[in-house]
Amino acid sequence: MIAKPSAFIRIFSLLFLFAAQFIDAQNTAVSWTKLASGVWSAQIGQPEKVNLTNTAGVKPRLETINAMPEVEFPLLPAEIKATVFDGKTYLQFPLEVAEKIFGLGLNFKTVEQRGRIMRLHVDHYGGKDDGRTHAPVPFYVSSRGYGVFINSARYLDVWVGTAVLKDSKVPMNSKDRNTDKTWTANPYSDNVSVLVPAEGVEIMIFGGPTTLDAVSRFNLYNGGGCLPPKWGLGFWHRTPTLYTDEQVLNEVVEFKKHNFPLSVIGLEPGWQTKSYPCTYEWDKGRFPKPAEFISKLNAEGIQTNLWMNPYISPESELIGKLKPFVASHTVWSGFVPDYSLPEVNRIIGDHLKKYELDIGVSGFKMDENDGYDNWLWPDVTLFPSKTPAEQMRQLYGVMMQKMTDQLYREQNRRTYGLVRASNAGAVSFPYVVYNDYYSHRDFITALINSSFIGVLWTPEVRSSKTAEEWLRRMQTVCFSPLAMLNAWSDGTKPWSFPEVEKQVADVANLRMQLIPYLYTCFAENAFYGRPPMRAMNLVDGFDAKDEKVEGQLNSSENPYAQATRKEIKDQFMVGDNLLVAPLFEGETSRKVVLPKGKWFDFYTGKLAGEAEIITVTPGLDHIPVFVRDGGIVPMAESSQLQTAGAKTNLMVRIYGNQETTYKLYDDDGSTFDYEKGAYSWREIRVTKGKDGKLKGVISKAEKLKPDNIGKVSFKFISE
Ligand code: GAL
Repeated sequence: MIAKPSAFIRIFSLLFLFAAQFIDAQNTAVSWTKLASGVWSAQIGQPEKVNLTNTAGVKPRLETINAMPEVEFPLLPAEIKATVFDGKTYLQFPLEVAEKIFGLGLNFKTVEQRGRIMRLHVDHYGGKDDGRTHAPVPFYVSSRGYGVFINSARYLDVWVGTAVLKDSKVPMNSKDRNTDKTWTANPYSDNVSVLVPAEGVEIMIFGGPTTLDAVSRFNLYNGGGCLPPKWGLGFWHRTPTLYTDEQVLNEVVEFKKHNFPLSVIGLEPGWQTKSYPCTYEWDKGRFPKPAEFISKLNAEGIQTNLWMNPYISPESELIGKLKPFVASHTVWSGFVPDYSLPEVNRIIGDHLKKYELDIGVSGFKMDENDGYDNWLWPDVTLFPSKTPAEQMRQLYGVMMQKMTDQLYREQNRRTYGLVRASNAGAVSFPYVVYNDYYSHRDFITALINSSFIGVLWTPEVRSSKTAEEWLRRMQTVCFSPLAMLNAWSDGTKPWSFPEVEKQVADVANLRMQLIPYLYTCFAENAFYGRPPMRAMNLVDGFDAKDEKVEGQLNSSENPYAQATRKEIKDQFMVGDNLLVAPLFEGETSRKVVLPKGKWFDFYTGKLAGEAEIITVTPGLDHIPVFVRDGGIVPMAESSQLQTAGAKTNLMVRIYGNQETTYKLYDDDGSTFDYEKGAYSWREIRVTKGKDGKLKGVISKAEKLKPDNIGKVSFKFISE
């Protein structure tokens, strides 16, 4: 939570909040306009026409933001500086001594970004948190409870607390390296500096008061999170590239035989006549009757997701119409459509509708729209729209998300899919980022980081060297936004390691049973901008005021380390109530940081600890999960996904021994009617009777609203 602003800040803010002009040494004005409660924007110089939010076409949820508490401008306006010079915009934002900075793209190794120098650039993640990543979102949040967003689709250079000013608030402290052991190559820096390669840019500030509030305001400004269809939260399986329809259908039978849940089948490149470059047309050899094939899957309650990449084969029927609208360069001898043109969206949209949507395909996995440089179109590529290649690179994944989201919206069907490149603006698009990098630990760190920047991420499972690794990976993916086995290259099955088949099935079934809780977490993201899976740093109690600065700059991972470096990068929250602490191969025990209040073991309901660091030795069977005191976890009685129209019987677990409430989200689970009001928040209320015993009730669905809840029973698990 942000420290109370000093009287000085308050008076200052009152005087200048809405349109203050600050002239810096080089006469560049920073004039703030309030857009909504706790959201301010400033246009510096001449911002470019193309930016992140207008390309995505975000519809800010101003009403919801305005229902959040009013907050004061969280920084001293005079300490935010901008200079337009040499065709570029120089930005500077202040940092306090103990302040931590999170976000700035989908990072895989580190959660705290202070001390890092980055170039935010869409790319396949190459093993370093240097800004080149799948979703290099130019947004950071501070442990002091505010966020900063640079609305630019350029490659941005960011110095996160490394640039040292001669007139810093903290005076220079020169030391003699010959004799003084405390000498450092990186003296204290009091600012975040950003270089925008354009003669202007929009910058935005999002207030708190908590770090989570700042993230929520950012997400809501970007349209709120997506609400996946319920089936999207079930178990996904992607079959090997060259599987035929029969092989896929056999796989479905195998899932049944093994009593393993399955909600979505993903087909990899081989569903098409050609891939790399792609035709987006069904291969008649492997899939002679695609519509029939999809109906057969649907009859089993299974949805179909199709892999694609953006590069169009000269042999695709598309090319005739598309040719005038492709870039000067090719990728894998395929044409690169200029998605910033409405014609391209229409031509490709019509094609996908005809061959895919209209026969029941539920969504796409949009691969390879990120990089690497050595095969992607270079920055000297010319696009017919005249959008510079640099901006196209930053936006390509976003534009593909927008186009396909729109196609499904037109059919009033929700989709949920995968994408390899994203950015700010795409918060509300129903896509989850994934990649080929395969470090289990780093996948969890990415999951944590995704929560700061309005992105969803899946730590997908593909293969493993040992049964233990297999199980540990399966356990974590089942607590992520998309529980998926991607067997495209290895042909693995959930039961590939018989030694742990039961435990893998247990966690997949648990995932299915948790759908009512998970769906509510996603609804909280859609309605209130609260990320479904989130970093511990977004939980109350992890603020700057609770941190001590440790003097020595000795982190081997981050040589520029400035502030304390007790990063929590291997445990995370699922919604408000569940804390998940995965184990990795070779570990039999681990430490878990329990925030304020009491925490209970998810499986037994026993007290696990309270505001402390505990060590757990959970055995192989379970991934450690803890529930906050008073936490209500609504679970489906069955691990089968309910078919449309059927009611879900609930078994509601209550942890701790206190009166408590919870809001369970309910709608039709598959259409956009909820956007027109067809939903209810059902209140679950737990009260103590005269006998001192806890009792639970659930409110009815609102009149004329969908009602998908059947019988409800309550389990007071901590009694
Ligand atoms: C990769 C992708 C994999 C798989 C593969 C198919 O680029 O990350 O998940 O889809 O392509 O060729």
